[in-house]
Amino acid sequence: MCGIIGYVGGRPCQELIVQGLERLEYRGYDSAGFALVGDPAEGFSVVRAVGNLSKLRAASDDLGVASAATTGLGHTRWATHGRVTEANAHPHLSADGRVAVVMNGIIENYAELRHQLQDSGVVFMSETDTEVLPHLIAQAYQGDLVEAVRAIVPKIAGHYAFVVSHLDEPGRLVGTRYECPLVVGIGEGEAFLSSAIPAFLHQTRDIVNLEDGDIAVLDTGGVTVLGATGGPVSRVTERVDWDEDAAEKAGYDTFMLKEIHEQPSALWDTIGDRLRPDGSVYIDELGLDVRALSRIERVHIVACGTSYHAGLIGRYLMEDWARIPVSVEVASEYRYRTCLAGPGDLVIGITQSGETADTLAAMRVARERGAHVVALTNIMGSQATRDADGAIYTRAGLEIGVAATKTHTAQVMALALLALKIGRLKGALNPSGAAELAEDLREIPDLIEGYLTSSAAHNVAQVVQRYRDREFFLFLGRHVGVPVCFEGALKLKEISYIPTEAYPAGEMKHGPIALLEEGSPVVVVAPDGHVFDKIVSNIQEVRARGARVIAVATEGNREIEQHADDVLWTPKTTPLLSALTTVIPLQLFAYEMATARGLNVDQPRNLAKTVTVE
Ligand code: AGP
Repeated sequence: MCGIIGYVGGRPCQELIVQGLERLEYRGYDSAGFALVGDPAEGFSVVRAVGNLSKLRAASDDLGVASAATTGLGHTRWATHGRVTEANAHPHLSADGRVAVVMNGIIENYAELRHQLQDSGVVFMSETDTEVLPHLIAQAYQGDLVEAVRAIVPKIAGHYAFVVSHLDEPGRLVGTRYECPLVVGIGEGEAFLSSAIPAFLHQTRDIVNLEDGDIAVLDTGGVTVLGATGGPVSRVTERVDWDEDAAEKAGYDTFMLKEIHEQPSALWDTIGDRLRPDGSVYIDELGLDVRALSRIERVHIVACGTSYHAGLIGRYLMEDWARIPVSVEVASEYRYRTCLAGPGDLVIGITQSGETADTLAAMRVARERGAHVVALTNIMGSQATRDADGAIYTRAGLEIGVAATKTHTAQVMALALLALKIGRLKGALNPSGAAELAEDLREIPDLIEGYLTSSAAHNVAQVVQRYRDREFFLFLGRHVGVPVCFEGALKLKEISYIPTEAYPAGEMKHGPIALLEEGSPVVVVAPDGHVFDKIVSNIQEVRARGARVIAVATEGNREIEQHADDVLWTPKTTPLLSALTTVIPLQLFAYEMATARGLNVDQPRNLAKTVTVE
């Protein structure tokens, strides 16, 4: 995820800004930059660099008089629109060089705005969506930066937080947000604006959390927060007492829990500007034009671990929505099998890190056979993207917890977008069906957000208390619930070290049922849908053997309460998209279990976040 820091005050701020960026490093980034307002007649002093912050430090060694500047803004970039290059790093300037902007988030209608600006003669210097902002603000500016910001906000769609400086108002920064965090830090005669508190926590602990639509104005006279429509609004100044470690985790106890809670924004970002209300989908980086994509005959998915489970879910979506045959295989097996992929086939290597050795090898094998290979990854510029013909980026931000959570659901969302795109192109979906699916997909992040703050999510910890001493869990599901079970079982075993078995419920009688004895806990993924009754029969079978059933079911389904010992409720969505909602309580279940057992959730034993060896 990108990071923002801005400073206005009485001290030279170059070092404060670079230090702030260093403190945002845990969020992950691929490039960084800052702009200082020194002598307004000289323009901004802008430094940008690709790579880590030592590169930025090296590039900003000698800034001369500008290093005395007491107003500045900086940014660490996690690429979403445009490659990882110096030109795409923030800050971005207006064509006249008078406006500098740093932004987090996504401007969904940037392409349209870019065309309008180009038609008015603006020449763009980067490929980013952010660059539309300084140009729009420069055009709207009539001597008042706040008014210029207020004038352009209604023109932009998406979710964002941005900070802007104008050379005509050198001791001032203006920031606003919509569905992306932006927080003010208030010091003695100085103030900070950042996307996350750790950036300035070593300087001040007094903070103001901005709300959607707020416009914060920082200048030497202090901080004012204005409402979207006019005058000042009152926002509470809070004192943060976290230590720096807790601050990095945004107040959560662990990165894993923070990342579980970041899933709504990971999904909003992954959908971003790609999905239109009529169900049309734009994935620019795919490397396949519409004609080539509509001619794809088969899809092969290769991946490892949690990414493999996302692939299994993707198969259900693609086969149903696009009516195209899909095979899914663990990459470590695929790479040594006789590969039958070839021209006309699309091979998708799913790897959040973009560096998993087996996935890279499997992609290479398929590419040598002439298949079109696409990397579905969270890391722009990773090896997978270099080895592929195209890419689909999840926009989940850096994931630090070894147990993948937000990257998994973002992968499923990306596969859903691709399935919708292929389904439309191949005519498997009619326009109204595609539009309905688009609406269903857009609802998912909100459903998950609502769930994560609900009593249903809090209840998971209580359920875990009843099972915390159990030494084995069986997971059962049907249809798209099967890969959800695989994922829930993997989460539980990797962070709480409890042996698990995950099976299609219909296969249970062919073996796993022998494992059950009085009191054996069985987690059953049982959302509403066409296999619900079948699942209920399976529940009855395991209960008849003395098992205790923890069902993951759709809220409002009263029937399940008669069959299960405990229910983990999930929000209602369509049966296929339940793969995105039912996995969340299972992530929490694993998390609470590991926590109850006193284990290190973020760094489980024997596991590495990225497996770069075979
Ligand atoms: C998931 O929680 C894992 N730690 C692991 O299975 C992971 O998904 C796998 O190693 C694949 O990683 P990748 O997505 O970076 O390729």
